[in-house]
Amino acid sequence: MSGTQRNIWHGSGIVETNIELAEKTFRLSLNVQEPLPVINAGQFVMLRLPGGSDPLLGRPFAVYRVSENILEVVYLVVGKMTSRLAELQPGNRLDFWTPLGNGFSLSDAAHTIMVAGGIGQTPFFMLAENLCQTQTESRCTLLYGTRTASRIVCMEDFEKLGIEIHLAAEDGSIGYHGFVTDLISKVYQPGESTRILCCGPHPMLHAAFQVARQFDLPCEVSLETSMSCGLGICYGCVVKCRCEADTWDYRRTCVDGPVFDAYRLCW
Ligand SMILES: Cc1cc2nc3c(=O)[nH]c(=O)nc-3n(C[C@H](O)[C@H](O)[C@H](O)COP(=O)(O)OP(=O)(O)OC[C@H]3O[C@@H](n4cnc5c(N)ncnc54)[C@H](O)[C@@H]3O)c2cc1C
Ligand code: FES
Repeated sequence: MSGTQRNIWHGSGIVETNIELAEKTFRLSLNVQEPLPVINAGQFVMLRLPGGSDPLLGRPFAVYRVSENILEVVYLVVGKMTSRLAELQPGNRLDFWTPLGNGFSLSDAAHTIMVAGGIGQTPFFMLAENLCQTQTESRCTLLYGTRTASRIVCMEDFEKLGIEIHLAAEDGSIGYHGFVTDLISKVYQPGESTRILCCGPHPMLHAAFQVARQFDLPCEVSLETSMSCGLGICYGCVVKCRCEADTWDYRRTCVDGPVFDAYRLCW
């Protein structure tokens, strides 16, 4: 999708639960008391604290799961807004607008490799769920790496889907000892039509893209660019992308992304 977005649900939800899953990592569920719009895997929501101006701006979060009138996000506390989110109690109100962004593209690849770093597993749950339901002939693998084992969350949800999961920790405390991107070449089977999808810190995305390019595989990356409006209005979220004829121009992460063809980004 491109351009300023329309048909966006804007309202508030009541906090149903806000559970600490691991150190500084929470799962927040919001009840909106009416059916939510269709939200595709990889699309996101802007959350904003109601009735105040500190913080002034909303913040973007991947939609982790949605069912009828419940929307869930999983977040890591890094600064002002996420610290305030961590204090929310059941019954508190939160403003949000969604669905935003483009989401992951549809594909008939036989193997989807999802590469997540840090809190980058969040957009992949809905995608994996969707692939398991609609593409039963294809397979789906999650590669998930963090600095240390205690930062790994939500794996029970992915396990229930029955997909293949490989963990990595930079300190060796769980799974593979090293960077999650090292695992791509271990699960990729040459000759099998495969695509690579990534979400996480920028250096990890770049490393994953380099592996994809080495094997000549399609690769999409979901960017965590800072945003202000999430609606395509403020131009505060631009990234450099390649255009035709070897030129480049800016694209807005909130409407042209957050998922980009990795081959089109100016790394
Ligand atoms: C499409 C999208 C989906 C996202 N999904 C999730 C998600 O599911 N879960 C989650 O925990 N986070 C997610 N993020 C990141 C999340 O938006 C930021 O962590 C959040 O905005 C931080 O707000 P804050 O007020 O707590 O931090 P701030 O006070 O704004 O910043 C605190 C510190 O974190 C740094 N920082 C803030 N945002 C980012 C960023 N995006 N990348 C790198 N450094 C940053 C700042 O430079 C600063 O040093 C997503 C971002 C995008 C764009
Ligand atoms: S956040 Fe305003 S244009 Fe993208």
